[in-house]
Amino acid sequence: MSEFVKPEEIIVDNFVLRPIPATKEYAQMIYDIFVADTETFRHWFHGGMWKSADEVLAYYQNKAKNDEPRWKYAMYGIFKDGELLGEIGLSGIDTRNQTGQIGYWLKKSARGAGIVDKLIPAIEKLGFETLNLRKIDISCDTDNVASRRHAEKNGYMLEGVNRERDLWHDGSIHSTSMFGKLRSEWNNK
Ligand SMILES: CC(C)(COP(=O)(O)OP(=O)(O)OC[C@H]1O[C@@H](n2cnc3c(N)ncnc32)[C@H](O)[C@@H]1OP(=O)(O)O)[C@@H](O)C(=O)NCCC(=O)NCCS
Repeated sequence: MSEFVKPEEIIVDNFVLRPIPATKEYAQMIYDIFVADTETFRHWFHGGMWKSADEVLAYYQNKAKNDEPRWKYAMYGIFKDGELLGEIGLSGIDTRNQTGQIGYWLKKSARGAGIVDKLIPAIEKLGFETLNLRKIDISCDTDNVASRRHAEKNGYMLEGVNRERDLWHDGSIHSTSMFGKLRSEWNNK
């Protein structure tokens, strides 16, 4: 399989997943969400926080062009009643190798309500069924307890720790915990 078609929209209960539009309005919204909570988003942006809404816009415009030839994304904004709460989906999709990686973020006010746990099964269905992946990974900073909990609670196996893999923009050194789930371990919810 060399190409794949991303669903335009995925609906789970009251949540609508659809790509975040690459517009100035959304870029500013995302910039504001991240800047308001740099302490948590440092795990997402260990290379350094967004410098401006224009930088966010360029990132989403680039993604909208459908990625690089080999590595692909199927990331979705999480909307409830029209409000953008965060983003979840697959990145680093390697269609030859049939692998991909789940990623997610939520704005502060949307946390602690189990939203990511509710949506992970839909993203697994997208990966294992629609995109025919063999394996899905979740990699997170070893100190990112909230993210690690999602991997553990959703049945991902800790396959190893990539020690001192990342040098963050603030000079600190961090390890990455690598979790994985095989299609044969997926219980197709
Ligand atoms: C990762 C993220 C989406 C989690 O938000 P959430 O889905 O609402 O998750 P919660 O805040 O409910 O935390 C999940 C679990 O971790 C636990 N947890 C969170 N922070 C914790 C901490 N500092 N110490 C111990 N446990 C913690 C919660 O109690 C919860 O446990 P439970 O599921 O047993 O109830 C959110 O923190 C975020 O957007 N972070 C920034 C982006 C990011 O790091 N993305 C992941 C990159 S790999």
